[in-house]
Amino acid sequence: MPGRLITIEGLDGAGKTTLAAGLAEVLEARGVPVRALREPGGVELSERLRELVKDPALTVGARAEALVYAAARAQLVEELLAPALAAGEWVLLDRFVDSSLAYQGGGRGLGIDAIAELNRFGTGGLTPDRTLYLRIDPQDGRARQAGRGEAADRLEREDDTFFAAIALAYEQLAALEPERVREIDAAQSPEAVLADAIGEISDLLR
Ligand code: TMP
Repeated sequence: MPGRLITIEGLDGAGKTTLAAGLAEVLEARGVPVRALREPGGVELSERLRELVKDPALTVGARAEALVYAAARAQLVEELLAPALAAGEWVLLDRFVDSSLAYQGGGRGLGIDAIAELNRFGTGGLTPDRTLYLRIDPQDGRARQAGRGEAADRLEREDDTFFAAIALAYEQLAALEPERVREIDAAQSPEAVLADAIGEISDLLR
């Protein structure tokens, strides 16, 4: 069976990490060689860039921010993701290019097209086989995130208009590519979200 890239997208607090863990368990139980990764991260350079880009003590302009995420992604693709897919693994990736399109293209107002072009260069055009978009109201996402009791990182400190713009960009991306991007109602229980997600990738499992 060929390797598959399944990405999980959505606002902070949508439940991406919980879904990734649940899906990994289900796929493993079916004998699928699966690996769960997150962005930015997964390899040393990208984990270090993650620390920098999330640090509230640093000034990071919108363009620099887009470039740092793209650089972290480029290294992950070259060092780990492309080889894993070539070896036939299924990779569950918590955020990928769509996060940059939504956060930097939409949220920061840099435009979807400019960010898409930057990321085409960074990833060599790698596109997910399926993207599970966990749709949540920005206020609910914020409330869930605040309930975790962790200190807010640099992006999480932004105001409501930033997150509203990101949510809108995600909606547009989902509408543009309905075959790849599948919307899942993240307000449901984690079990129901997992069941929906399995339904949305079932054709890839056949
Ligand atoms: P997370 O792993 O907790 O979701 O943190 C990643 C943060 O970085 C989150 O606030 C979303 C943001 N982000 C972007 O703005 N652009 C990107 O391309 C990625 C991958 C994440």
